[in-house]
Amino acid sequence: MSAPVRVADLLARESAGGSVRVQGWLKTARHGKGVSFLEVSDGSCMAGIQVVAEPSLANYESEIRALGTGCAVDAEGELVASPAAGQRFEVRAARVAQVGGVGDDYPLQKKRHSFEFLRTIGHLRLRTNTMGAVARVRHAASRAIRRFFDERGFLELHTPIVTASDCEGAGAMFRVTTLDPLAPPRTPEGGVDWAQDFFARPTFLTVSGQLEAEIGALALSKVYTFGPTFRAENSNTSRHLAEFWMVEPEVAFLDLDGDAELAEAFVKSVLAELLARSADDLAFFDERVEKGVVATLEHVVREPFERMTYTEAVARLEKSGKAFEFPVAWGTDLQSEHERWLTEEHVKRPVVVTNYPRGVKAFYMYLDDDEKTVRAMDVLVPRVGEIVGGSQREHRLDVVTRRMRETGLDPEAYGWYLDLRRHGSVPHAGFGLGLERLLLFATGMANVRDVIPFPRTPGSAEF
Ligand code: 4AD
Ligand code: MG
Repeated sequence: MSAPVRVADLLARESAGGSVRVQGWLKTARHGKGVSFLEVSDGSCMAGIQVVAEPSLANYESEIRALGTGCAVDAEGELVASPAAGQRFEVRAARVAQVGGVGDDYPLQKKRHSFEFLRTIGHLRLRTNTMGAVARVRHAASRAIRRFFDERGFLELHTPIVTASDCEGAGAMFRVTTLDPLAPPRTPEGGVDWAQDFFARPTFLTVSGQLEAEIGALALSKVYTFGPTFRAENSNTSRHLAEFWMVEPEVAFLDLDGDAELAEAFVKSVLAELLARSADDLAFFDERVEKGVVATLEHVVREPFERMTYTEAVARLEKSGKAFEFPVAWGTDLQSEHERWLTEEHVKRPVVVTNYPRGVKAFYMYLDDDEKTVRAMDVLVPRVGEIVGGSQREHRLDVVTRRMRETGLDPEAYGWYLDLRRHGSVPHAGFGLGLERLLLFATGMANVRDVIPFPRTPGSAEF
């Protein structure tokens, strides 16, 4: 027997001919008079390959005619030009073996299932067209992200998942402990004695690799970290996950403008690569999920992003005459409805909003001279809102110490962070892009739970 070939590689061949072997799962099986059409998919691309089996095969009546949707098969035969519309090649079977059958209750029949239903069968949903396409685009986006930074001289720095610091200072962290929840060791005052825990101190799952990326940037100049991050916030929205993937570049000798430029070039480069290398999957999303998504991506890649300060954004929101659910007022954070109005209806392309009020942003952002705003930037895109959050960092020892106290962080506990401001401190900046938010934008999918293979949300952690 020959070695099996991926369906994607078969369909990319220049011409028919030769014996080929495929392995995969049946998307459909149609049994006609004296012939069976089996569509074999292996997840390597959107299309399957049609295997045509005839009664001359020894197991035709006993096995092949009983094959149905979801069965796993191993088939071999000649690759021939296909007379059917919409497919260049098919396999004229010389051998078809069932490797795994399906039960009568196999839930994925050839009809459309709602994404809500598919979430209830997370172990099977990757076999559907949409989830397969999402998985491939997710892979392609990760590859594009690494390529972008690699080509620009960034070093990939692996920051810890278990951490003792709270980067966003928001307290929305998952505790990591091996203490017995029923009988933890106690301090004389009656609190839990974390000194007796595994790491001899309180530890958590990271909400961001930024603080460690700053350590990297202040030695290696340009770094990025890319991995899972965790937020224990009880946000049940279509854009929040408790575990999501974030890519965070951090660059020494960079200011806010340079940071915004980097973010724009980055988002455009990743989307351009998806348009070029994931065209089949994006065409599927355009047709079945969100009409016009490809044209939107092309537009975004071509046109410059709009820039405006938070103060300007608030002025425009106030002038919009729109009845927002949350009122707009200088000093409060922008809500998703405000972000969407700005990018979707007002400027109709991505917007970089800069210089937010100090009160709504984290302690590490560079304080502007007026002491009212910080050098923050968020990139907002149509349909999704914020996909990037970043800033120029506060590299002045006195100011950052003051800002820590103001926001309730103990400077004593962040001695290493302050040390970086005492020894060889330089202006530096970075940002974080949520991979799932980017995928919502790129695919037109509506819910973050459907662009990550195994979503974690409040009340739900399957597998
Ligand atoms: O704006 P955030 O919270 O920024 C940071 O964490 C910074 N430390 C990043 C940095 O400067 N290095 O998060 C960054 C991005 C958001 O813009 C959003 O795309 C995504 O991460 N994000 C989430 N995605 C899914 N679910 C959540 N709960 C998310 N929270 C943030
Ligand atoms: Mg943010």
